[in-house]
Amino acid sequence: MGIQISPSVLNADLSRLADEVERIAAVADWVHLDVMDNHFVPNLTFGLPVIESLIARTNVPADCHLMIEDPDRWAPGYAEAGAGSVTFHVEATRSPVQVAKDIRAAGARVGVAVKPGTSLDSLRDVIRHLDMILVMTVEPGFGGQAFMDDMLPKIRQARQLADASDADIWVQADGGLAPGTIELAAAAGADVLVVGSAVYRADDPAVMVEQVRASAENAVRL
Ligand code: DX5
Ligand code: ZN
Repeated sequence: MGIQISPSVLNADLSRLADEVERIAAVADWVHLDVMDNHFVPNLTFGLPVIESLIARTNVPADCHLMIEDPDRWAPGYAEAGAGSVTFHVEATRSPVQVAKDIRAAGARVGVAVKPGTSLDSLRDVIRHLDMILVMTVEPGFGGQAFMDDMLPKIRQARQLADASDADIWVQADGGLAPGTIELAAAAGADVLVVGSAVYRADDPAVMVEQVRASAENAVRL
């Protein structure tokens, strides 16, 4: 599949969400939508009604990153609403396999995310039911934080787990990715790269998407 770029709208102008997505629509593989519930993380963003409305307005596939408690109850609804990919946190549920099965049954790709302090050992049972592992490279909750380069070994380990499985599992890195750090994440084996503030703080978000894609592709070739 190669490198994919998933711009996060967390730091975009949320009063103009559909327009902000339109700015990257021609060049992005996904739009990364950070759902936060003020419980799993200390921040509150948007939820299903907003994402449903957005899906109706754009052709860019929705990459939903659920930073919420009780994904067992809420995650399948995002898949039913037409999201292309739904990622939940392994820390937020005691039944990751069931959540993964429910998302898949509703027609979306399944991702599982791990916070910086969570080991990939926690994915042992669920790995067979996954399409993507999301390695957080900041503490979840806010955009614009510094990339944690001590997460690079975990990205490498996720890549090994993905390659060792029979399925085509993608490895997503999320947090602090920008020119200068995206190369490190890509070289370590991340192939779906979330870029939030670097894209939406740029004068032209689409140009920045192309720039980070080229940087990541170069880093993989080296
Ligand atoms: C953090 C979110 C990230 C965030 C990335 O909790 O999951 O997706 O929006 O933003 P940047 O690229 O600014 O770190
Ligand atoms: Zn995210």
